[in-house]
Amino acid sequence: MEMEEAPTYAPSIAVLNVQEMVRRDPLHVPQRYIRSEEDRPKLSKPSHLSSQIPIIDLSLLAIGDNEELSKLDLASQSWGFFQVVNHGVAEDILNSMKKLSTEFFELPIKEKEKYSMPLNDIHGYGHAYVVSDEQLLDWSDALMLLVHPTNYRKIQFWPVKPDGFKEIIESYSNGIRKVAEQLLVSFSLIMGMKQDVILGMHKKLVQALRINYYPTCSIPDQVLGISPHSDTSTITILMQDDDVAGLQIRHNENWVSVNPIPNALVVNVGDVLEIWSNGKYKSVEHRAITNEKITRISYASFLLPHDDVDIEPLDHMINPQRPIKIYKRVKYGEYLRSSMKRKMEGKAHVDMAKY
Ligand code: OGA
Ligand code: NI
Repeated sequence: MEMEEAPTYAPSIAVLNVQEMVRRDPLHVPQRYIRSEEDRPKLSKPSHLSSQIPIIDLSLLAIGDNEELSKLDLASQSWGFFQVVNHGVAEDILNSMKKLSTEFFELPIKEKEKYSMPLNDIHGYGHAYVVSDEQLLDWSDALMLLVHPTNYRKIQFWPVKPDGFKEIIESYSNGIRKVAEQLLVSFSLIMGMKQDVILGMHKKLVQALRINYYPTCSIPDQVLGISPHSDTSTITILMQDDDVAGLQIRHNENWVSVNPIPNALVVNVGDVLEIWSNGKYKSVEHRAITNEKITRISYASFLLPHDDVDIEPLDHMINPQRPIKIYKRVKYGEYLRSSMKRKMEGKAHVDMAKY
């Protein structure tokens, strides 16, 4: 059988490495990182809503528990975000992933530059979504890898240092994939379908990993770690550090912090699930903020359909509750690439798929 080649995604303009900039001069923040007044995070006013972000027990979903399925249904409608506990990924895998990733980012820049993101694609170490010389920049660097299917891997971007990093990326990603498959089974069920339907609709369940590195910033109230965006995935599964918050989601016009629960995973509905469900499940806008004292690392796994899949609302999701088909049919590969050619900008992209 012929092996399908790894697709290329999108170009991005090369920009300064933030970690290196902070190492050289911790107090200097160039103008291109400074946000306008209305986009700046209000660090002094944490929202009391954080404690209401739903927590879902994956071991209950796995046995088809109806109460937990209904929690998933409500969480995905009202928040678009939830945290997952009892997910079955071993604690030592989570910890080794964190330890070796930290060691990678602490390597000298010369070593990390061996994996620099090329100008025409998004694999490797660098910055994606930079599309113009005027665009404001995010206070972060990232390592981005395509993990599944395995023939999409570009192994030249997989760091050989530190020892064992490649191997832990592999086992972490396999663990996350099982969690994703269980969640997609549960989404099939709460959308009234047989359990394997949504997985099957992906043709191939593509999995990408982005490890985000947010250096400390001397003026965290004037910059953003990641600009507001929704994810173009079906779902995203994120591990974050236990001791520092940074992820915020938009909920009724407030920015609400998703505070870390040790060993839990943060899951969010992406644009694809919003489109398939005809807007019932929400791909919610989110961003990351930085802080003055602690470097933060997050590990985002994106689960997405194969490029060839046509995405549109499922027939039975156009129903008396949502009688109008909100999104037109789009080829997923085109949707993804046109989003990557734009800077991250809230929900502007999924809105383009609307009628
Ligand atoms: C992302 C993302 C948030 C975070 O990588 O898409 O939203 O907390 N990350 O790092
Ligand atoms: Ni995101």
